[in-house]
Amino acid sequence: MKKTFATLAALAMLSGTAAYAQDFSAQLKARQGQFRIMAINLGILGGMAKGEVEYTAEAAQAAADTLVAVSMIQQGPHWPAGSSEMDIDGTRAKAEIWDNLPDVLDKWAKFGEAAKVMQTAAGEGPASIGPALGQMGGTCKACHDAYRAPAS
Ligand code: HEC
Repeated sequence: MKKTFATLAALAMLSGTAAYAQDFSAQLKARQGQFRIMAINLGILGGMAKGEVEYTAEAAQAAADTLVAVSMIQQGPHWPAGSSEMDIDGTRAKAEIWDNLPDVLDKWAKFGEAAKVMQTAAGEGPASIGPALGQMGGTCKACHDAYRAPAS
């Protein structure tokens, strides 16, 4: 079996064409992982705003700083052409992303702006987290509504 696969792979390389779907598993893990980091830290701040998670200025600041840090990760390498939900399994990224890259990047930048607002607010007490949280949640939703396919 192994030998057959090696032969096929060699043939595919020789022919120089993408006879098989490319393996984008690393890119999917990277982009989905960054969203998980965002959701976890948003959850911490949301819990503090609701009084369900104990508020400390340090922990709130760390969560907000992490959101800003994620917003600074360059996005291009995580979104290769051919990695939409129409092309491969394991992703909910709509094909529309690749037709609207400037708008997608603008929506990502809006998330970054909201993260900076949170960075300023987070250390000032649980009451100041709420409004910043609303703004940030809006930026998540705006992009998901346009570019994330429903869970199947
Ligand atoms: C610029 C667009 C954009 C923004 C902004 C955005 N998302 Fe997403 N998000 C996506 C896309 C597209 C996917 C699907 C990615 C995939 O499946 O490959 C996704 C997937 C996710 C996932 C699922 C990850 C997984 O494990 O599959 C979570 C959780 C998530 N986003 C949370 C958030 C949160 C929280 C925010 C805001 C703080 C946010 N997202 C902001 C576009 C965005």
